[in-house]
Amino acid sequence: MHILHVVGARPNFMKAAPVLRALKNDPEIDQTLVHTGQHYDISMSDVFFEQLEIPQPHFNLAVGAGSHAEQTARVMLALEPVLEERKPDVVLVYGDVNSTVAAALVCSKLGIRVGHVEAGLRSHDRTMPEEINRLLTDQLSDFLFTPSADGDENLLHEGVDSTRIHRVGNVMIDTLVRLLPCADSRFPAGTPPVYALVTLHRPSNVDDLPWLRDMLATLTDFSRELRVIFPVHPRTQLRLQDLGGTRRQGERLVIMPPLPYLEFLALQRRATMVITDSGGIQEETTFLGVPCLTVRENTERPITITHGTNQLVGRDLKRILAAAMSILDSKAKASEPQQPVHIPLWDGYAAERIAAILRRNSTFSSRQGLRRN
Ligand code: UD1
Repeated sequence: MHILHVVGARPNFMKAAPVLRALKNDPEIDQTLVHTGQHYDISMSDVFFEQLEIPQPHFNLAVGAGSHAEQTARVMLALEPVLEERKPDVVLVYGDVNSTVAAALVCSKLGIRVGHVEAGLRSHDRTMPEEINRLLTDQLSDFLFTPSADGDENLLHEGVDSTRIHRVGNVMIDTLVRLLPCADSRFPAGTPPVYALVTLHRPSNVDDLPWLRDMLATLTDFSRELRVIFPVHPRTQLRLQDLGGTRRQGERLVIMPPLPYLEFLALQRRATMVITDSGGIQEETTFLGVPCLTVRENTERPITITHGTNQLVGRDLKRILAAAMSILDSKAKASEPQQPVHIPLWDGYAAERIAAILRRNSTFSSRQGLRRN
């Protein structure tokens, strides 16, 4: 069986890494890795390949940045000839980025089976580009690999046939479980003993410049109570430049470039709290038992609220500050790693389960896998 993986952006890399590993030594399986180049910087891409030990991609489509339509269309145009040349039996796509939906669409038109890793998540907010990508990718996929029961329920509710749904657990947690023992040695030198860790990159937050300016002021105020470390996504960096740079923030709010995986994991693990609008970080903090304030009105990962440490604080600056102060008041000031939280199937073996399902379906896949025309 020939499996082709499509990755494109930072949050894909930690999800694909364990699946590539789980299939690596199987003599019956050939693998092709395609990087769309949606994320292309050393700090957003190369360093993740290195730390997560992902093999060099066979193809880099170098699509780069652009509007949603441009980026999606470029992936589609560049991927089609690769698929025609390689003729995979199954294409695996990951998460909810533009590269994910673009690849799923090309495959479905070529009659190539698609497996969606991290299927079924729903914020029920169609203003988020990722929600559109999730909805369409799931409709087009033959194998829907879900991380938790809410994913299955969402898909069933949308009329997806239950035979396509496979609850395998959380592949991102596979990577975390494997690399957590290596993370402590990467704890960035000079980090204060207690701190809040912040990430913000969603267009709905950072493209709203007045809000971003006020959020920065709120973080500066909060940093008088607790030092704040803020590794900045390139999108956010551009917006901060629009606001005239970050020199005025003072030394208790530390703004820095995006961090590699291990350094960021080390910081998450020891953080007093994390303030974020990311999807994956809500899950990682839940697993690590670190309080997380999510600066969004909704989440596609409700299990991180019902079972984990996550709280939605919306885009309400007073609420964000009050929630952060309340965590600070409730916690011992020394920052020690927390106890991991147990969520079913978030155990380090999700990729093995995906591999087993693909092997069971290999005959079927290869018979059906080429062009439908
Ligand atoms: C994308 C995903 C989002 C994911 C996020 C994680 C979509 C719709 N969005 O958003 O789901 O949570 O990645 O990072 O697919 N840039 C660089 N260097 C890079 C990558 C990007 O400078 O390596 C710049 C781009 O030029 C662009 C901006 O960052 O100006 C945004 O990049 P883009 O790929 O459009 O989307 P993200 O905001 O990263």
